[in-house]
Amino acid sequence: MRIGLFTSGGDAPGMNACVRAVVRTAGAYNCEVVGICRGYRGLLEENFFTDLDRREIMSLRSVSGITKLGGTMLHTSRCPEMHTEEGLRKAAAILEKHGIDCLIPIGGDGTFRGAEELCDHWGGKVVGCPGTIDNDLIGTDFTIGFKTAVETAVSAVDKIRDTAESHERMFLIEVMGRHSGYIGLFTAIAAGAEIVAIPETLEGIDEIVAQLHEIKDRGKKSVMMVVSEGDDLGDAHKIDEALKKAGNPFPTRVVKLGHLQRGGSPTADDRILGSYLGHAAVLGLLEGRTQVMAGRVDGRLVYTPFTETYDRHKPVPREMIDLLKHLAR
Ligand code: F6P
Repeated sequence: MRIGLFTSGGDAPGMNACVRAVVRTAGAYNCEVVGICRGYRGLLEENFFTDLDRREIMSLRSVSGITKLGGTMLHTSRCPEMHTEEGLRKAAAILEKHGIDCLIPIGGDGTFRGAEELCDHWGGKVVGCPGTIDNDLIGTDFTIGFKTAVETAVSAVDKIRDTAESHERMFLIEVMGRHSGYIGLFTAIAAGAEIVAIPETLEGIDEIVAQLHEIKDRGKKSVMMVVSEGDDLGDAHKIDEALKKAGNPFPTRVVKLGHLQRGGSPTADDRILGSYLGHAAVLGLLEGRTQVMAGRVDGRLVYTPFTETYDRHKPVPREMIDLLKHLAR
């Protein structure tokens, strides 16, 4: 088996542990791993990882010491060309030319959509690993990188709380997550935020302002509101303006955490998840599986067809939204 391995879409902490697990597990089963740099774009440009011996096969040593590193050693990109017929055909031809008969893409929904479409033009097998901070994929309780991103966001909110307390202000802190409220909700609970606005919550501006008045009446001097970038009410600046107009009793500041959330050394949990799923992807290929994502659900290994992973976004647990509401008093 000659496995093409790449990371694609937004980088996520723990991707490196996953890359290492693929290379080491493949080595244990005498399979070759060809590292494809810069995701699908790199594939289309035949941009392969070359080891110290100048061979295009990743050696066991090529992945030494990377588990603790953030980002991805294989680099990554977004590649609109892979959504075209021409791009897919070209990618298939390149895989054939290099004798690659299996692929392990590490990425999110766009990555798996691309892999599924590629299989219409290419006869190889694909088993993916969920690598995205968004935690929006069906078929795994957690995606690689999510927990590290939440740790980073929580530590930022904790720091912002210090200045908010000092100045008796409200902060609107915008976190990532595209269309999913996972990062927002988990950050809000862990950091003790009073309010969260995520795509899954339905409160309008007037309801939030009413809550803010109640918070003030209860004697609170500072407020942390976590806003998910995909919220229906708009981005944090827009929400801030709307709250002001509707009578927000607190002076405010806005902070967008942005790409900070994608960086940093992965937590032990993300390193373990990346290792577990990278190993599982190779085993899945050896068992003849294809067009599936390796995931971990309730502590068990599960392979989910690509189409199911991205057809709809994984909903945030309703009880966690209720939990936040009960705690924010
Ligand atoms: O999918 C991961 C993610 O970080 C999202 O949370 C965010 O919306 C997006 O990527 C940002 O993408 P880019 O780095 O291409 O701007």
